[in-house]
Amino acid sequence: MLDAEGNLKPCPQCGVAQKWKIKAVDAYSSRMGAAVKQTFFNFKTTFQGKEDETLTDCLEAAEEFSSHPDARWLVMVGERGNGKSHLCAAVANHLIAAGTAALFITMPDLLAALRQAMDLQANTEQESYTGRMQTFKTAPVLILDDLGAEGRSDWSDSVLFELLDFRYRNRLPTMIVTNCALDAFDPRVASRMQDTALSTVVENSAPDFRKRPLSER
Ligand SMILES: Nc1ncnc2c1ncn2[C@@H]1O[C@H](COP(=O)(O)OP(=O)(O)O)[C@@H](O)[C@H]1O
Ligand SMILES: [Mg+2]
Repeated sequence: MLDAEGNLKPCPQCGVAQKWKIKAVDAYSSRMGAAVKQTFFNFKTTFQGKEDETLTDCLEAAEEFSSHPDARWLVMVGERGNGKSHLCAAVANHLIAAGTAALFITMPDLLAALRQAMDLQANTEQESYTGRMQTFKTAPVLILDDLGAEGRSDWSDSVLFELLDFRYRNRLPTMIVTNCALDAFDPRVASRMQDTALSTVVENSAPDFRKRPLSER
């Protein structure tokens, strides 16, 4: 529905604008395959028969972020295979089910979508790049996985700065996951990710879930 100024607003009865927005951002999503079924409920917080503190902290941080994402960032750092992407998917699935247009995308997928937009623009002369970048900058909730897994270049660094600086200045809800140390990033990006007024940083130091005995999975 349209408000008095002619802006598109969600209809309180049918939620049509939210559904439209969810579809619009989901077009770029890395939420597919197993990710659709990854939830907070099927995330295990036990290891070797005991509650594991790091897994419990990560689950709580992800649940907390998904219940109040407004003006907050959650940054999760850790080695491969210990459930970081699972929690990204769980946050996205939770928010989307609640009607929030959350975009779960890996940094390599985001850059590939922008490269594709540049090709499209060159071939069709239709503006594509700015609109797509705008979608990523303004997604109601952005869940950016695998930061640092992109082949880094000056271009990718400038995209990352533009994206995160915009979201930082506008206090837009953002979850960032990486297996790189935060100091490995452009210092301007690292500093924004660690701003304690906005961002919660959690370490996931759990071992690789894929190497667990089947009886513990
Ligand atoms: N604590 C956990 N509980 C249940 N499944 C898990 C847990 N940690 C990891 N997994 C599963 O192990 C696999 C690898 O986890 P993933 O989230 O992709 O790791 P990461 O992103 O940290 O490299 C996925 O299938 C995921 O569902
Ligand atoms: Mg991952």
